[in-house]
Amino acid sequence: MHNHMSHFSLKSLFGAVFLFFAFSFGLKAQDGAKIFKQNCAVCHLLTDQKLTGPGLAGVAGRVPPPADEWLAKWIKNNNKVIASGDAYAKTLVSNNGGVDAMTEFEFLSDDDIKALIAYVKNPPPPPTAVAGAPAADGEQQAEVKGGIDPLYLILGAVVILAIIIGALRSVRHSLNNSYNRSVGKDEIPEMTFGQEVKQWMAGHRRLVGVFIIIIAFMGMKSCWNACYDLGVYYDWTTQKGYKPEQPIKFSHKIHAGDNEIACQYCHNSVEKSRHAGIPTVNICMNCHKSIQKTANAGSEVEIGKIYAAAGFNTKTGNYDLPQNPLKWIKVHTLPDHVYFNHSQHVVVGKQECATCHGDLKKMTVAEQKTPLTMKWCIECHRKTEVAMEGNAYYDKMHKALKEKYKGQYDVKFTVDKIGGLECGKCHY
Ligand code: HEC
Ligand code: HEC
Ligand code: HEC
Ligand code: HEC
Ligand code: HEC
Ligand code: HEC
Repeated sequence: MHNHMSHFSLKSLFGAVFLFFAFSFGLKAQDGAKIFKQNCAVCHLLTDQKLTGPGLAGVAGRVPPPADEWLAKWIKNNNKVIASGDAYAKTLVSNNGGVDAMTEFEFLSDDDIKALIAYVKNPPPPPTAVAGAPAADGEQQAEVKGGIDPLYLILGAVVILAIIIGALRSVRHSLNNSYNRSVGKDEIPEMTFGQEVKQWMAGHRRLVGVFIIIIAFMGMKSCWNACYDLGVYYDWTTQKGYKPEQPIKFSHKIHAGDNEIACQYCHNSVEKSRHAGIPTVNICMNCHKSIQKTANAGSEVEIGKIYAAAGFNTKTGNYDLPQNPLKWIKVHTLPDHVYFNHSQHVVVGKQECATCHGDLKKMTVAEQKTPLTMKWCIECHRKTEVAMEGNAYYDKMHKALKEKYKGQYDVKFTVDKIGGLECGKCHY
């Protein structure tokens, strides 16, 4: 009788655990991450750091309450919020250069926006591979149930189950023995835990099967998420094809193509530092002080924007007007934790701009042509040979490698052989 009872409560416990997991899957803000990456990540980080837009860490705490409602309105159409005279929106814009630089997202559904807000409020912790990265905000982490890793939930459930089973075992054992005593039988010795588990599993095959399926499913789900993060499925998740509308219709085709202006004339730190750099308006003025319009319709309007930015007065020919720095929208963006160095690739590695950026000389609007995922970096490091000949930096290494691989003529010294696959080289 008592045996039957313990069986029954265990069964309903398993049922509850199953339902709980099924439910928490439904809540997971996975879609939010994807929508954010596709639409927002170009301008926003989820930390305190500013890109084009403010860092979104803790944003729900600073916008006017009720935060979710305000955020939903803002994301959908920030112009409307600003036009409504919202004081917070006004300060936001004036703190960000005075021009409303955020895109409208009318095309996102209410559900998309809900998932997005849940994700922004509760972003995933930074990857463990990054040494010294700040830990995720623990308080925020606990706020939304769906954000807790299901594997921790399962571990917790297993521990609780073990405790309950242990308690039930000893209750049953003492009940058994008091029954035996009362009818004058001998007390039975306690079974080991292993024996008991075996006996229990044999009696509950179907339940055990269901449990194994749940665990296998969760395992698969976490592998899937891990691959997703690493950009293995980069065809879906990449920003490839991104070509934002810029504050001035600047054409690489006209400048670098038709007029053959060298890339380095404008991106003048590309050979000296990790950043290629975007030219300041002074560089545009070198030529556009005299080129005020072209044969193309509307060109004087676009060139006029250069003057407005530089504070150049076409009537007086002097810089006597207020300046308005241009806010170019970044096309290529790597996450914060990745280190990429232009001069190492362009000067030392002798890589062409076009290999990574496509042929800008043909583009009227700059566009991201490559995925910029980890897989992309690594594939190139695996197949590209290091340019060693005639390179003082590598002369010594080259000699040593030649010695090491003497007789193996087909050996290629690709970037991976000099450490180009080490996590620490690309990650802070
Ligand atoms: C083109 C750049 C750009 C994109 C894309 C963009 N934002 Fe913004 N965002 C901004 C700027 C700039 C501001 C500051 C206000 C302003 O100047 O319009 C801002 C402000 C915000 C704020 C208020 C921040 C605060 O400190 O109160 C939130 C929230 C926000 N954006 C969310 C999003 C979300 C979510 C997406 C994606 C759906 C997104 N943004 C896409 C540029 C962008
Ligand atoms: C006359 C100046 C000028 C020249 C010459 C020029 N660029 Fe640019 N480039 C710009 C400006 C301004 C931007 C920012 C606006 C934009 O993205 O279109 C830019 C943006 C870019 C971007 C995108 C940057 C981002 O935000 O991720 C790449 C890549 C780039 N240039 C590569 C090149 C290459 C390669 C060449 C030579 C073939 C070149 N540029 C020649 C001015 C120039
Ligand atoms: C080295 C000289 C040079 C520099 C520097 C330069 N431009 Fe130009 N720009 C030109 C020339 C040449 C033309 C084409 C003139 C023509 O076709 O008559 C042009 C044309 C333009 C046009 C008109 C395009 C059209 O539709 O006809 C715009 C807009 C423009 N440039 C923006 C910029 C901006 C923004 C910068 C700074 C980032 C810049 N330029 C830097 C030489 C330059
Ligand atoms: C090996 C690949 C690779 C090569 C070669 C390369 N770039 Fe880049 N470039 C990148 C990546 C990756 C980024 C994004 C960097 C980031 O977000 O930190 C970038 C960003 C840029 C930017 C945006 C501003 C910046 O500094 O982040 C410009 C402009 C640019 N590249 C121009 C050039 C020019 C010009 C050349 C050739 C002289 C060149 N790149 C060669 C990979 C490359
Ligand atoms: C087009 C091929 C190509 C792509 C794409 C590429 N790299 Fe490289 N990378 C090279 C070459 C070639 C070198 C060797 C340069 C040298 O000789 O030091 C190199 C070297 C490096 C190094 C130095 C390795 C060392 O051992 O010193 C780092 C770090 C690096 N790359 C990071 C990146 C990152 C991050 C990305 C992706 C955003 C990337 N690379 C994409 C070709 C590439
Ligand atoms: C050649 C450069 C390179 C090397 C080597 C490299 N990574 Fe990455 N890694 C990247 C880039 C670039 C990204 C960003 C990909 C993206 O945004 O889609 C990235 C992303 C990641 C992410 C995902 C973080 C996120 O924001 O989703 C993790 C985790 C990661 N790397 C771990 C590692 C580990 C562990 C190693 C060593 C085995 C390693 N990486 C080696 C370039 C590299």
